[in-house]
Amino acid sequence: MAKTSTVFVCSECGATSPRWLGRCPSCGKYNTLAEEAVTPIAQRPAAKSAFTLPRAQRLNSVTYEKYDRVSSGISEFDTVLGGGIVPGSLVLLGGDPGIGKSTILTQIAANLSQKHKVLYFSAEESCSQVKMRAERLRLKYDDLLILNGNCIDGLENELDGVEYCVIDSVQAIYTDDLSSSSGSVGQVRECATKLMRLAKSRNITFFIIGHVTKEGALAGPKVLEHIMDTVLYFEGENQENYRILRAVKNRFGNVSEVGVFEMTGEGIEAVSDYSGIFLSESRGQEAGCSVTPSQTGNRCMNVEIQTLIARTGYGTPRRMSLGVDYNKLTLLLAVLEKRCGLRFSDRDVYVNVMGGIKLTEPACDLAVCAALASAYLDIPVDKYTAAFGEVGLTGEVRAVQYAEKRVQECVKMGFKRVLIPAKNMKSVSKYADKIGIVPVLYLSTMIKNLFPKEG
Ligand SMILES: Nc1ncnc2c1ncn2[C@@H]1O[C@H](COP(=O)(O)OP(=O)(O)O)[C@@H](O)[C@H]1O
Ligand SMILES: [Mg+2]
Repeated sequence: MAKTSTVFVCSECGATSPRWLGRCPSCGKYNTLAEEAVTPIAQRPAAKSAFTLPRAQRLNSVTYEKYDRVSSGISEFDTVLGGGIVPGSLVLLGGDPGIGKSTILTQIAANLSQKHKVLYFSAEESCSQVKMRAERLRLKYDDLLILNGNCIDGLENELDGVEYCVIDSVQAIYTDDLSSSSGSVGQVRECATKLMRLAKSRNITFFIIGHVTKEGALAGPKVLEHIMDTVLYFEGENQENYRILRAVKNRFGNVSEVGVFEMTGEGIEAVSDYSGIFLSESRGQEAGCSVTPSQTGNRCMNVEIQTLIARTGYGTPRRMSLGVDYNKLTLLLAVLEKRCGLRFSDRDVYVNVMGGIKLTEPACDLAVCAALASAYLDIPVDKYTAAFGEVGLTGEVRAVQYAEKRVQECVKMGFKRVLIPAKNMKSVSKYADKIGIVPVLYLSTMIKNLFPKEG
């Protein structure tokens, strides 16, 4: 194939330049030029076919092959994919370094290699490193193919008969069509496009590992996510054992599915009974803890929130939050101070959610406030009491989604009392004989209920 030439294109305004420039001469934005390959029109395979465009046909007359989903051997992974792997699809798996991306895909590759031809293309680790991992995980890898390299231009020659291919990682591979180094926007985009063509033309399923930036987004251009059929994120704290797998895009399934995994010495295992894993043993003894039934994807899990309040030594008070948005925390502190008279302006506040879970939904507000009030008043919240509800700036508690599911989960976990938004009462009244349901209209009502002596 003739070597393609390249140009640098501004991602903001589309201006082109033959060289890389730090600042786009057209729109003046910095760091927006990325390399792109250009094929001369004469060499473009599409050029001829422009005249031989197929005739339009009725959608009704289009035929397609029915695909059967294939199990990856890890049930939770299948669930997140929407019921198994769709042959010929592109799956991107993103996550922090060390979270276990290579581990889970080595496991899946070994599982699939029992019945299919599978290639593990490792651009980050040597073949021996991959073998060491496979041995440590005690996998059956006799028929698994391994290839170590960075340039993907010759990859198609190795793909004869291969049905599944793992690429570890998209930031470490490159194509000779572009002169920029691997990991650059241009390279990531070009390589992903090449893999997509291979996947669609030869019906190979690609699992592609992608890195995330410091902010937690997938590194590389947004185009990368557009090309993929499924985009998965692996989340969790590195030191914690639990991991959550979430689909953010899925052409073949529901994105609201999440998978819960445990990282063990023998690899990543699906956790089928996840109730109670995000709760501590000492709950109810110390002040500053509360429990909320949190809806993550399609699942409802009881999660414990822990807070600590200390007198500020000097200067401005510190606020530190893991698992709850920082701005949300400062907002809730202000509401508690103004509407309930709890003064936090001379206290340091620390918040942590168990198990490295990130509570993003507003329904966790009430439980965060309960934990903060408990820490402030130095009175523990009862062990078998949970709370959920959104807190407004006026101190009112607003209705939330999935109230019934949340109450159900509390009943299942043996909780005795649950504080819920007053407006959600109707939908959950049928559980009144199984659990004490306390309607809460204002934040101050919650404090009166949880800490009667103080209120
Ligand atoms: N020899 C080992 N024994 C136990 N756990 C290990 C060992 N080596 C690595 N790990 C675990 O595997 C994790 C790295 O997983 P890996 O799949 O390489 O992550 P990623 O590919 O997402 O960067 C580490 O966080 C570590 O906890
Ligand atoms: Mg890795």
